[in-house]
Amino acid sequence: MGKVKYKRIEDLPGVGPATAKKLRELGFSTVESIAMASVKELAQAGIGEKRAEEIINAARSAIALTFVKAEELLKMQQSVERLTTGSKALDNLLGGGLETQTITEFYGEFGSGKSQICMQLCVNVQLPKERGGLEGGALYIDTEHTFRTERVIQMAKHVGLDPKEVVQNIIYAEAFTSDHQMFLLDHADEVIKENNVRLIIIDSLTAHFRSEYVGRESLAERQQKLSRHLHKLIRLARAFNAVAVVTNQVMAKPDVFYGNAVAPVGGHILAHTSHTRIYLRKGKGNIRIARLVSSPYLPEGEAVFKITGNGIEDVSEGEVKRR
Ligand code: GTP
Ligand code: MG
Repeated sequence: MGKVKYKRIEDLPGVGPATAKKLRELGFSTVESIAMASVKELAQAGIGEKRAEEIINAARSAIALTFVKAEELLKMQQSVERLTTGSKALDNLLGGGLETQTITEFYGEFGSGKSQICMQLCVNVQLPKERGGLEGGALYIDTEHTFRTERVIQMAKHVGLDPKEVVQNIIYAEAFTSDHQMFLLDHADEVIKENNVRLIIIDSLTAHFRSEYVGRESLAERQQKLSRHLHKLIRLARAFNAVAVVTNQVMAKPDVFYGNAVAPVGGHILAHTSHTRIYLRKGKGNIRIARLVSSPYLPEGEAVFKITGNGIEDVSEGEVKRR
C-alpha cells in the first residue's frame, strides 16, 4: 500500500499550528477536504494565494499517492459504488442503487416517504457489500426533527443487523437554521473520516432556506447559499466516496401563492448540479411511486415500492395492480 505522507493537516508543508487552527475553524480539518478546497477558500484563513496553492497541491499529491500506488484501494475507494434502497424495483430504476460521489435528491409532498427512505439508507449503508451496503456509517443532518431512533431500530432488526451497533454508526445532527445547516456540513469532514461515513443525508435540504428567505429580494442570496451548500456536499461525497442524499418537499399541486417560488428552491439550483432526481408520490395506502426525473445517464422511468413496519420494501404483483 502507498505510504500516506500527510496524516493530519499539520503535516502539510506550509501549515503551522496557527494556520491549522484557522483551517479547522473554516471546516478544513482533514487532508481530504483541503485537497478538494479552492485557493480562495484557504485564503480566508489568512493564507496567501501562492502558499494556498502549494498546500492544496501537497494535499492532492498525498491522496493521489494513496490511490495510485494501491491498486486495490483505487478500485475500492475511487470507483463508484452503489447502495441499496431496500426495494429491488427502486434499485433497478436507479441502475442498481444510489451511487457514491454524486447527489441523489428525493422530492415530493409530505408523507411521500422521503424521510423513511433516508432512515432506511442509514441502516442499509451498514450492510455488507454483497448485500448492497457500503460497510460504513451515516451522517444525518436533520432540519425538521423527523429522525426516529426507534424506527431505525425496527429497520435494523428486519435486515438482521444489531440495532445497538446500527444506532452507534449513525452520526446525527439537528440543524436549527439554514446557516447552522451549512455550518454543520462545512465542518463535517473530520467526523466523516473518523466514523467511516459513506452516506451523507440532508433532510430537508430546503426547508430552512424556504422559510428564512422569503420574497423576491432574497431569492438571489438564497440560491447562492444553496449552491455553495451543495458544492460542499458534492465535494465531500467525492473525497470520501460517499452517497449524498438530499430531500426537498414540494406540493403535489403548486398553488398560486407559491407558484414559481416553489420550483426554483430545489429546481434550478439542483438542476445545475449533475445529480439524480427522484419524484415520490403517494399511491394507495402504503404504496409509493418513484419517478426518476433526471439522471446523468439513466432513462426516465417509474418504480413502485411500499413503506411497512419493516421499512422500504418491494410490492407484490397483486399489490401493484391494485394501486
Ligand atoms: P415530509 O417530511 O413531511 O415532507 O414527508 P416525508 O416525505 O419525509 O414522509 P415520511 O418519510 O415521513 O413518510 C411518512 C409515511 O411513512 C407515513 O405516512 C407512513 O405511511 C409511513 N411510515 C412512517 N413510519 C412508519 C412506521 O413505523 N410503520 C409503517 N408501517 N409506516 C410508517
Ligand atoms: Mg420528512
